Amino acid sequence: MVAPILPVELTDAEVVRRGRRILGPVSLRLEGEGVTIVMGPNGSGKTTLLRALHGLERLRGGALRWQGERDQVRAAQAFVFQSPILMRRNVVDSIAYPLRLRGLSRRAARAAAAAEAARVGLGEMLDRDAEVLSGGERQKLALARALVLRPQVLFLDEPCANLDPHATRDIEAILREECARGTRIVMSTHHVGQARRLADEIVFLTDGRILEHAPADAFLAAPRTAEARAHLDGDLPPPRTAGNAAAAAAGGAVAGIDMTRSRRRNRQ
Ligand SMILES: Nc1ncnc2c1ncn2[C@@H]1O[C@H](COP(=O)(O)OP(=O)(O)O)[C@@H](O)[C@H]1O
Ligand SMILES: [Mg+2]
Repeated sequence: MVAPILPVELTDAEVVRRGRRILGPVSLRLEGEGVTIVMGPNGSGKTTLLRALHGLERLRGGALRWQGERDQVRAAQAFVFQSPILMRRNVVDSIAYPLRLRGLSRRAARAAAAAEAARVGLGEMLDRDAEVLSGGERQKLALARALVLRPQVLFLDEPCANLDPHATRDIEAILREECARGTRIVMSTHHVGQARRLADEIVFLTDGRILEHAPADAFLAAPRTAEARAHLDGDLPPPRTAGNAAAAAAGGAVAGIDMTRSRRRNRQ
């Protein structure tokens, strides 16, 4: 199943804050299905790119285009932030809240929320206050709040950044299951291992520019740019040179790859 609001296209987009260009110009087309992983060093613009795709950033230049009516497009997306804001509610009411906002009765919302809680592994904690959850449980709660809306496209900004390996695996298993259901996932991470486990395609950023957009297998086996090679090797990025800048400019234009050619074996 391909999400009807896709493809999404960001064209020559730029985001400027306090007089500094923190993203762009970038052009990127995401389509089809599967998992896109956004990689890049700290400060490279991963969060800003996700926010721009989700429509949270005012673009100084360029355009963002989804398919369909604005409200419908908005309702079909969910975003899990890196440090989700917890509500002063228990688990089940936290998950039910977005459904209540959409007009569901309290009873229907709580029933759906309880089912979603069970799915992410919080089924035994429905009455627990969100504030007392562990880091991994909080992230599962945030995920459940996003998934309960049945989004076509799910954005996640480094959802496992502060989690231990066990919680990370749990989250990854939920994401794989969600992907198998047809949800399109766009997620940032700086964990190379996580990209290897989840990605169908990779978008690699440095300095607010897209250096590479490629099927995950190809990128992870043989990235084209020195910056990406250094990132995968865990080295510091090399200083920018004229050659690297040219690669960056070329990378900015490599939008839109055929996801059907990069379908991978890691589906459950
Ligand atoms: N509110 C802000 N004001 C000014 N600069 C910002 C702001 N938010 C982020 N930045 C800068 O924009 C750049 C990209 O940030 P970000 O998208 O958060 O990168 P990443 O997620 O890859 O770490 C960084 O240099 C960061 O310091
Ligand atoms: Mg970030």
